[in-house]
This record gives sequence, structure tokens and C-alpha cells, in this order.
Amino acid sequence: MQHSTIEKSIPLMSILTLVLVAIGGIVEIVPLFYIKSTIEKVEGMRPYTPLELKGRDLYIREGCYNCHSQMIRPFRDETERYGHYSLAAESMYDHPFQWGSKRTGPDLARIGGKYSNEWHKAHMLKPQHVVPESVMPAYPWLQENVLKTDDIEKRMQVLSMVGVPYSAEQIANAKQDLAAQASGSSDASGLNKRYGNKVPKADFDGQPDKITELDALVAYLQMLGTLVDFSGQQAKAR
Ligand code: HEC
Repeated sequence: MQHSTIEKSIPLMSILTLVLVAIGGIVEIVPLFYIKSTIEKVEGMRPYTPLELKGRDLYIREGCYNCHSQMIRPFRDETERYGHYSLAAESMYDHPFQWGSKRTGPDLARIGGKYSNEWHKAHMLKPQHVVPESVMPAYPWLQENVLKTDDIEKRMQVLSMVGVPYSAEQIANAKQDLAAQASGSSDASGLNKRYGNKVPKADFDGQPDKITELDALVAYLQMLGTLVDFSGQQAKAR
């Protein structure tokens, strides 16, 4: 068929265009039906511990995402500042995810381990104590509010319904694991068994007599971006 015939007939041109675009679409979409997951498996990923999960809920409650993203893009300026770019697997247990795009403050995807617990405490109580020019608001109530834990099992059950692989044992021991992680001194063998030895355990808020919202939030921050070990690759200054 002559090219000019196609070009001069709008219906024919439309149909052939549609066929062509459909072929392109099918080539892209069909392979997705045959793979189990589009998320590459990486070693080290685990669901949040009960304390970290609570901290994450507080992060959302306090609206930290309004100023902080949690996604390092694969660009040199970002990886030099924040560390290895974020992998899809690193937010596979996030419901909802906290990638964001608003960066009034720095990206927090790899904040874990960058500062001490004491630094985080001082920073949360009054950011200007540690960063004088900071425009971040203070969150002093976090160290006063005792952490509400009565709904933690339900919270984990709901997450397991949407695919987070919490085991029955992890859910049943949630309160115990939460207390073990936040005290830093009590027996943490159960916690280690269920979530791995690497889980940071500490009296995060420096108040040994109670578990507060600050304990949970700092535990969450100290874990962010630390689960996958990137030491073999591009170990960049952060
Ligand atoms: C109004 C915007 C704003 C909000 C809301 C906010 N931050 Fe920030 N945050 C900043 C800015 C700006 C900085 C950089 C200056 C500083 O370190 O205080 C920062 C810094 C930080 C840092 C240190 C990052 C680094 O790499 O040095 C952490 C951790 C942090 N914020 C956590 C939080 C948490 C947790 C919340 C919610 C409870 C929160 N922020 C809410 C603006 C904000």
C-alpha cells in the first residue's frame, strides 16, 4: 500500500496508529505479567520492629514528610550528599511510602547512624540547639508523651494484610519486643531472634523510667537506610 494512501485517509491512519501504539504497549506490559515482582530482592530488608513502626506512625502524625523526603535519586549530587541512591526494596514494607519530593530539610532516607541518639533528642526538643540556623520546628511533647502501645498488634496485623510478612510470633511478642528495644538493657534475645542482631537497642530518649514517643521516633530515624549493607559498593562520605 502506498504511504500517501494512508496519510490521506484519516480513519485508516487512526487505525494503523492505534495498532502501532498497541504493539508498543504490549511489548512493555506483557513481561510484567510473567515476573513475580518488579522489586529486586536485596539482602537485609526486614519489616519494622514494633518500636520503629510506632516511630514511623509518629513521623506521619507530626507531618515530617512536609519538609523531608525519603528517596535519594540516582544523581551524583544526591549520592555524594546522602549516600547510595534508594532502592525500590528499601520501601517495600512502607504503607504508605514516604518518598516525598519536598525538601525544606534534607533527605532522611539514610539518616540512620549519622548522629547519636543524644543529638536526635536535642534536635527534636529544639533544632536550633544543634543547628542554630535551622527553620525546623521543635517537638518537645515527644519526650513527655508516654508511647501508646495498646494497638500495636492490630497495627501489625493490618500491615500483614497488605503484604508485610509479620509472623504470628512477631505479632504475639510485639509489646515485649518494643520494650526490649527501647530499654537497651533488658533481655533482647527474643527481639534479636525475630528481627536480627543488628536492631539498634537503646534508651533512645535518655529517660530510663518510661518509653516515650521520642524513643519510638529516634529508633525509627536510627534505622532508616541502614538495613541494606552498601559497604561493598560506592562507600561515599555522607
Ligand atoms: C518546617 C520544615 C520541617 C519539618 C516539619 C521538619 N523538619 Fe526536620 N529539618 C528541617 C530543616 C530545615 C533541617 C535542616 C536543619 C536542621 O538540621 O535542623 C532539618 C533537619 C532534620 C534532621 C537532620 C538531617 C541531617 O541530615 O542533618 C532530622 C533527623 C530531621 N530534620 C527530622 C525531622 C523529623 C523526625 C520531623 C518530624 C517530627 C521533622 N524533621 C520535621 C525542616 C523540617
